[in-house]
Amino acid sequence: MTMRSLFSDQSQYVESFRLFLENSTEHQCMLEFFERKLPDILTSLGNGKSTISVLSVGGGTGEIDLQMLAKLQAKYPGVSIHNDVIEPCAEQLIQYKERVAKTSKLENIKFTWHKETASEYESRMKASKEVRKWDFIHMIQMLYYTNDVPGTIRFFHSLLEPGAKLLIILVSGSSGWARLWKKYGARLPLNDLCLYITSADIEEILDGSGLKYQSFELQSDMDITDCFTEGNKRGELLLDFLTETCNFNKTAPLDLKNELIEDLKKLEYSEKKGGRYFFNNNLSAIVIES
Ligand SMILES: C[S@@+](CC[C@H](N)C(=O)[O-])C[C@H]1O[C@@H](n2cnc3c(N)ncnc32)[C@H](O)[C@@H]1O
Repeated sequence: MTMRSLFSDQSQYVESFRLFLENSTEHQCMLEFFERKLPDILTSLGNGKSTISVLSVGGGTGEIDLQMLAKLQAKYPGVSIHNDVIEPCAEQLIQYKERVAKTSKLENIKFTWHKETASEYESRMKASKEVRKWDFIHMIQMLYYTNDVPGTIRFFHSLLEPGAKLLIILVSGSSGWARLWKKYGARLPLNDLCLYITSADIEEILDGSGLKYQSFELQSDMDITDCFTEGNKRGELLLDFLTETCNFNKTAPLDLKNELIEDLKKLEYSEKKGGRYFFNNNLSAIVIES
């Protein structure tokens, strides 16, 4: 059997992503960041406005978006918010709409969903000649899926109102992911859907373009202990998520599998606490000024 990308099997991808969220502090670290830093970041963008426009690029199921909107409501009580969402996956959009329907206190927020990719949105906007500007744009864990990262950043940055901000969250250049991709990327199944990019690459692009930004490191980990128990189903799915490979345990050449499993236990990738291994899942939040 040959190795194939996890993205080729939608249901297996969704299942391993769910386990990743269960086993990691991925969402918790974002919520902590929203709690501690977002209120300050949101200062300046809504001053004196009666409506604040927010654009969520790759909003997924809206879980994170709604938390962020709550912070915006708290910062600007009574101000109306227009929240537009760009999301190509129909299933995610359905879940987003369901979430909005069952959440209270969203009366002053108007939601508009666009079922398209970031580049489809860009083409549509350019063709329509409509220049719609935004007070806050965010791209959370989604830039891996665009084929022109500098172009995407440049385009969405050009849509910012004066005083507005663009927030990007991605895995950190110092995370276990960065090391894993650098060492093993070439030996894992290639796919054109996902790029191995980290915050370090984004900062390099921003430094080159002269845009002004601030970075924050968000500490996060993922309990991968189950990956080291042969035959453990959860461990196998987590390993699929780590390697973005469908059935990695069954399809990877033995030497690759052994080397990678041993590496994952090392300090460069994971910390050992109380007999368990925690993979470094640190994220970076990059806030770009208009
Ligand atoms: C890892 S999820 C992150 C979802 C959400 N932002 C969060 O942090 O929970 C990435 C999202 O980007 C979406 N996506 C994939 N390719 C995209 C593209 N080219 N343009 C916009 N969104 C895309 C996916 O459908 C998915 O919902």
